[in-house]
Amino acid sequence: MCGIIGFTGQTEAANILVEGLQQLEYRGYDSAGIALNDENGTKVIKTAGKVAMLREKVDQASDASGTCGIGHTRWATHGGVTTANAHPHVSNNITLIHNGIIENYKEIAASLAVKGYKAISETDTEVAAMLIDSLYSGDPFETMKEANKILEGAYGFCIMFKDHPGEIYCMRNSSPLVATVTEDGAYIASDMVALLQYSKDYFVVPEDHIVVMKKSGIELFDIETKEKETPKMLHVDWDTTAAQKGGYDYFMQKEIYDQPEALTNTVAPRLHNGHVDFSADGISDELFQGVNRVIVCACGTAMHAGLVGRNIIEAMIRIPVTVELASEFRYMNPILDEHTLVVIVSQSGETADSLAALRLANERGAKTLSIVNVKGSSIARESDHVLYTHAGPEIAVASTKAFSVQCAGFYLITLKLAEIKGLMTDEEQADFCEQFEKAIGTVEEVLKQDDYIKTISEKIKDTFSAFYLGRGLDFGLASEGSLKLKEISYVNSEAYNAGELKHGTISLVTEGVPIIAVATQSSVLPKLMANVEETKARGAHVIMVTDKDMTGYEGAFDDLIQVPEVDDRFGTFGVTAALQILAYHVTVFRGYDVDQPRNLAKSVTVE
Ligand code: F6R
Repeated sequence: MCGIIGFTGQTEAANILVEGLQQLEYRGYDSAGIALNDENGTKVIKTAGKVAMLREKVDQASDASGTCGIGHTRWATHGGVTTANAHPHVSNNITLIHNGIIENYKEIAASLAVKGYKAISETDTEVAAMLIDSLYSGDPFETMKEANKILEGAYGFCIMFKDHPGEIYCMRNSSPLVATVTEDGAYIASDMVALLQYSKDYFVVPEDHIVVMKKSGIELFDIETKEKETPKMLHVDWDTTAAQKGGYDYFMQKEIYDQPEALTNTVAPRLHNGHVDFSADGISDELFQGVNRVIVCACGTAMHAGLVGRNIIEAMIRIPVTVELASEFRYMNPILDEHTLVVIVSQSGETADSLAALRLANERGAKTLSIVNVKGSSIARESDHVLYTHAGPEIAVASTKAFSVQCAGFYLITLKLAEIKGLMTDEEQADFCEQFEKAIGTVEEVLKQDDYIKTISEKIKDTFSAFYLGRGLDFGLASEGSLKLKEISYVNSEAYNAGELKHGTISLVTEGVPIIAVATQSSVLPKLMANVEETKARGAHVIMVTDKDMTGYEGAFDDLIQVPEVDDRFGTFGVTAALQILAYHVTVFRGYDVDQPRNLAKSVTVE
């Protein structure tokens, strides 16, 4: 949440900042601003609204020159969407931007009021600016160290001190910051995507560290010991086009179409001669030995990937799996031991609830493995082991390709567990690999049905509500399909285990209400279709999404999205792509911004 960028160097900063904010807009888009700080003083330009509005203001500004500055795009936590609440915030000597939440801001504000400080905005961030100003002794480092002792909550700050023109001081406890340096200058951002056009080499600012950015370069310090450290550089192999729309109308559309490549990049390097091989990931077999239970912790879409994972692991290798919402897990007092494998799933690797769940699992002695897309992210760094997905950057707020590769991660883990526990013969493992790769190959075919799925989307575009049905593994897919539709099109959509509908919710099924029924599991197909018939009998508009042969069921549905048939274990990929395309087109028909749905932001770094 909230996008942050900072630059100091030899070139004009304003354009770098605004362009960076455009790349980061998916992290929050209710207001945006920049500040420049040089020998002539500090200039702040900010506005409620999207980065495009900031761009206009910057272009019209009488003076937006300067080679050192910071920029921010906001996802509101404290205080409404107004220009006054937009960052940067200024308090006398201090101009800063912030990602995170200051939990004790009310107490701090009260103590500062006595000293005459009065906030202009309703934000926790302005209080942090006032606090740092009140502590300022002329030594930025010492001042930040003092502030760090007082501030409670989560933060990544970029701070400019009026009497240190050309310099930016950044401090992180938990909210992510990454930095790089090139011959043009030093850059910092909340996310590598904003820096891609300048460098593919970067470092993640470790927690409880301070970064000092000067025209001469970047220095990294431990906040407590003040010791200077050598940053641990990482390399990203995404090219600059990976974070661009590349001719598609929306990032979400592009990312749906990225899926064949993302899946191949995630799976192919790990399958060798009919076996799964994690040696390049540094994941030792020892991790899986002695595991008698798996707990998946994640949020939103990533949690739905866990539902798919649960079904495949339990069905194929009979190890009990529970799937927990990360936001609940840490308050459940979970029972964990060294035989429990906790799998954290996260595209960003920064989701605060998932990170907290991981920390609890580590504390309580469970084994931890994360399925993460962003290299060097907090979850990746703090897990015992990481299985990176190779989806490339995901920009649309609604997750698509990340879900598919997370599911693929669970298939790989299942195969590894089966091998280690001696639950599959060599032939069975080879067959698993063959069917898995075949299923991935069908996604390309599903994408070719885009126009056809669009015609079905048009039929349901005006609905107020919709229900997704599925049994077993298909409930996970239905849950994800439903989330996709509701988060971007604002259709009031819910997923149900198909057999459960008649225990209450069927009362909401009336004439024309869309029922999207997902069927990839032959064993429960007759039961699912019985449930579907029950809705049809009440006038529902039934859309079947399936890879199975529907001969004999023709009267039970109105529309059929038929994806290529695959082995029952691997129905995940084709159906997922079809459901994403459906949600996408409904949203376009309804005229909403597909990539930036209201109230949302990508990478939820607050609890
Ligand atoms: C929905 C969506 C969210 C995320 C969730 C977890 O389309 O993207 O539900 O899946 O916020 O995010 P990560 O995977 O970054 O932990």
